[in-house]
Amino acid sequence: MPETGPLLDRYGREHRDLRVSVTDRCNLRCVYCMPEEGVPLRPRQEMLSIEEIARIVRIARELGIRSVRFSGGEPLVRRGIVELVRHMALLGFDDVALTTNGTNLAPAVSALAAAGLMRVNISCDSLRPERFRTIRRRGDLAVVLHAMDAAEAAGLSPVKVNVVVIAGVNDDEVLDFAAFARRYGRAVRFIEYMPLDADRSWTRRQVVPSDDIVARIHAVWPLEAEPTDGTEAAPADRYRFRDGAGEVGVVASVTRPFCGTCNRLRLTADGAIRNCLFSDEEVLVRDLVRDGSSDDAIAAAMRRAVWGKWPGHGINDPGFLRPARSMSMIGG
Ligand code: 5AD
Ligand code: SF4
Repeated sequence: MPETGPLLDRYGREHRDLRVSVTDRCNLRCVYCMPEEGVPLRPRQEMLSIEEIARIVRIARELGIRSVRFSGGEPLVRRGIVELVRHMALLGFDDVALTTNGTNLAPAVSALAAAGLMRVNISCDSLRPERFRTIRRRGDLAVVLHAMDAAEAAGLSPVKVNVVVIAGVNDDEVLDFAAFARRYGRAVRFIEYMPLDADRSWTRRQVVPSDDIVARIHAVWPLEAEPTDGTEAAPADRYRFRDGAGEVGVVASVTRPFCGTCNRLRLTADGAIRNCLFSDEEVLVRDLVRDGSSDDAIAAAMRRAVWGKWPGHGINDPGFLRPARSMSMIGG
């Protein structure tokens, strides 16, 4: 394991992208993420404070992390998030982003943009109000659409819209979402449903392959794949509308795992570094930030976490085991 230089895993992949879950609480209960009754509240002591998060992210920045994304649960239910963004933006990241369900975004978005937030991803799985509410088990589509307008007004364009596609639930809206992307210039991202739901009801039959989504859109509005050099780590495959009316993307986590180029690291709200959504091997840095350990010791723990990364999540292998944490406890 290299003790200086960039954050490398044992396959030579340089890690540049950090996702920070600032809370595992959420004001919603999306069917693909949380159980209806919510997740038990963890004692506050187990969660990192804003200052502890800031310290860990700063150390990650010093190790070569170039982009940071705040997520949850729902990051905007955490007090201190605007200050955290402000603090982190000063560290000189190439990208400072936030993934939110949009419920609490509109009132906060100009403060977030002023604090240095550069981009926002807003989850929205249906454009039909009743279905939207069914999928989220609560919540209001109009509020989220308004949040998209507010984000654009605050200069956070283009807004990305995350759509988890589930067969028999919302896959009949693919074309509606494509039309929506074209009309508003928003980058819709269709995400394959992954076995990270808290109810453990995921089945492969509910996954709509990204290739089908692209084909369906292409039949109506011809698409062109955005060129990549094959080494890009961004999980979304991007497609441009041939007529110039914007773009859509697909995240083929199940049918075409992108583990081979993954350069992402995750910090959970309770202070664990995870090197993969699907790996339960974690390095707990919370104890280090609390026992007087030096920045170097924390940096070494991060290096260890990256070095221990698996070649891939093995989601399609017969021996695949679901991770113990659901999405809201890992952080998108
Ligand atoms: N499969 C795919 N995506 C999921 N998300 C949450 N749970 C799942 C799942 N089981 C997505 C949300 C949001 C991001 C934080 O993760 O839609 O866009
Ligand atoms: Fe909350 Fe996001 Fe999970 Fe939905 S997907 S319950 S908004 S954390």
